[in-house]
Amino acid sequence: MNEKKRILTGDRPTGKLHIGHLMGSLQNRVRLQDEYDEYVVIANIQALTDNFENPKKVRENIEELLCDYYAAGIDFNKATVFIQSEVPAIHEIFMYISNFATVQQVAHNPTIKTEIAQKGLENSTPLGFFIYPVHQAADIFCVNADLVPVGKDQAPMIEDSRILARKFNNTYGVKLLHEPEALFGTEVNVPGIDGNSKMGKSLNNCIFLSDSEEELRKKVFQVYTDPARVHATDPGKIEGNVAFMYHDLFNGNKEEVEKMKDLYRKGEIKDVEVKERLFEVMNEYLKPIRERRIEAEGMKDELMVKAFEGSKKVQVIAEGIVEQMKEAMELRFGNR
Ligand code: TRP
Repeated sequence: MNEKKRILTGDRPTGKLHIGHLMGSLQNRVRLQDEYDEYVVIANIQALTDNFENPKKVRENIEELLCDYYAAGIDFNKATVFIQSEVPAIHEIFMYISNFATVQQVAHNPTIKTEIAQKGLENSTPLGFFIYPVHQAADIFCVNADLVPVGKDQAPMIEDSRILARKFNNTYGVKLLHEPEALFGTEVNVPGIDGNSKMGKSLNNCIFLSDSEEELRKKVFQVYTDPARVHATDPGKIEGNVAFMYHDLFNGNKEEVEKMKDLYRKGEIKDVEVKERLFEVMNEYLKPIRERRIEAEGMKDELMVKAFEGSKKVQVIAEGIVEQMKEAMELRFGNR
């Protein structure tokens, strides 16, 4: 018997992962993979809901994700990484729970609302995209996960999943679907190199795990500092200064950081000095990850095999849940 609690997390394969993902969720997954029975879904079907005209992109980014996972320290022998489309039972679970969600409820989901507005899809929302919050709940139920590590912004998604589980169980008088709990880690906010409060692929302000040392250097020297500071002798601002935000995140020597901030405020240190040191500490931090990322490039086939094995394992678990759902819904015929 496996006594460990089940955890499920995942990503859409739409792009390479960056240091925001690393600090925000990947490191958390690495920490949790020993203590929990961890599942990581590569949500390629959900990625298609708003990239359906670009299947190649989704396909290629599965491999990129696998490499990023490996680079960040996800151990494919501990965590079960799986590909959504290889677990069709998810779609079956989705169909059965969709009776317990309403169109109005999904329409009011803050995450989907924002996304529809951002993409300008108010008058032509693809149904597949619209239903993805419910499909996401099916991901959670396909392994009956107890815990879902998420950022605060995803809390409504977990709450919706809990309601769906409860409604299904109550309606059919079963104790089948677990009500998942959100597991909030320490929120780490990694701003973009341009000073935007968030790092995002579409914002073009990312430092990727796959960036070379030269790319890292280039980006570190582009990092947004204090635009009002023209000469190194001008007193500088620390607030909103990305160079110092990154120092706070990546420089383990807090004393040094405080000293630099002090000198910066007084106009006694140059931007380039702060950045040169930032490059050093970030490079030290990211170098082993970059090296593993390069190693992973040569292991793509092997990692894909692992993901297929993981998918098979999850499909078996999910089919077990489907059978119990069907039993509860009077969907068993003959002696089957
Ligand atoms: N939609 C999530 C994202 O874009 C990924 C995801 C898919 C997920 N299924 C999930 C996260 C289930 C948590 C639980 O990041």
